[in-house]
Amino acid sequence: MILITGATGRIGRRVVERLVEADQPLRVLVRDEEKAKHLLPAGIDVFAGNLADYGLVQSAVDGTQSVMLLSPVDPKQVELQGNVVNAAMATSHPYIVKISGLDTAADSYVDCGRWHAETEQQIQSSGLRHTFLRPLFFMQNLAFLLDSARSKGIIRAGVGDSKIAMVDADDIAEVTTKLLMDKNMLMDQEVTLTTAESVTYHQVASVFTQVLARKVRYEQQSLEEVRQALLTSNQPEWHINILLQFNRAFLEGKGDAANTAVEDILGRPATTLLQYLQREVEQSGGDQSSNPFPS
Ligand SMILES: NC(=O)c1ccc[n+]([C@@H]2O[C@H](COP(=O)([O-])OP(=O)(O)OC[C@H]3O[C@@H](n4cnc5c(N)ncnc54)[C@H](OP(=O)(O)O)[C@@H]3O)[C@@H](O)[C@H]2O)c1
Repeated sequence: MILITGATGRIGRRVVERLVEADQPLRVLVRDEEKAKHLLPAGIDVFAGNLADYGLVQSAVDGTQSVMLLSPVDPKQVELQGNVVNAAMATSHPYIVKISGLDTAADSYVDCGRWHAETEQQIQSSGLRHTFLRPLFFMQNLAFLLDSARSKGIIRAGVGDSKIAMVDADDIAEVTTKLLMDKNMLMDQEVTLTTAESVTYHQVASVFTQVLARKVRYEQQSLEEVRQALLTSNQPEWHINILLQFNRAFLEGKGDAANTAVEDILGRPATTLLQYLQREVEQSGGDQSSNPFPS
């Protein structure tokens, strides 16, 4: 039995679809049962509630052999994810695939990098079998720029000329699915997930130019301009701070860490930026709910 947390999110719902296709016994922990019914394939065992509810988490984890551990960036992340780790220790000791992120390190100035590191440390100390997947930047973050690229021929960001190793959320989901079905593959390892090549936003603008068949250029913003734009966006201060920390980390080159892990694991090349943006343009014209920065 496999448990998926964050099952209605960008990675989670893609993992659920793949596990259902592979006919795997599956349960999900979701906050909103109606949303889950709408987004996920029928016939899945649903535990409805919050990761903050330890009793619920314990019943969801009990009897599982593998768990995907994901929750969004949140000041309570360590406590919420800690509930899953404690429940795993108290019940069936499942193998855990945890989705971490950029600059996962105990001394990181990126708040959620430290939070991810704290949970990774908790899992390691617990002796639970695990794999930590560390994507740096989802290509899906770029969907937010599609409108401006299309209508004005401009994309804006505060990451200067830095190179960023992006990755398609679909590739992350495929890797996660594979691991959940074969815990021995990367047991007790941490893996940074990226495409094979890092790109600058100038290169991102060129790919937008190619897929939209109109000239698109990159306009660099200072961190102060980014901050001012975020202040008008109704986001809480802690989140704005994290978004600025991401920008700083990219400017300092922490996103320039391309590798071949996706290809090594999946046996096919990682989705390229061109392939992702072509798909995005064909499918939806852009995910308007996305943020301009990774979260
Ligand atoms: N975006 C990036 O570029 C990037 C890069 C590297 C790493 N990451 C990491 O990826 C993770 C986010 O992945 P994602 O984009 O797939 O997430 P997402 O789309 O934001 O989905 C979050 C999921 O968690 C659920 N959730 C939120 N709070 C919950 C709670 N208290 N109890 C139970 N479920 C809860 C949400 O449910 P609802 O549907 O009810 O809201 C949703 O299913 C974060 O850990 C982040 O650090 C992101």
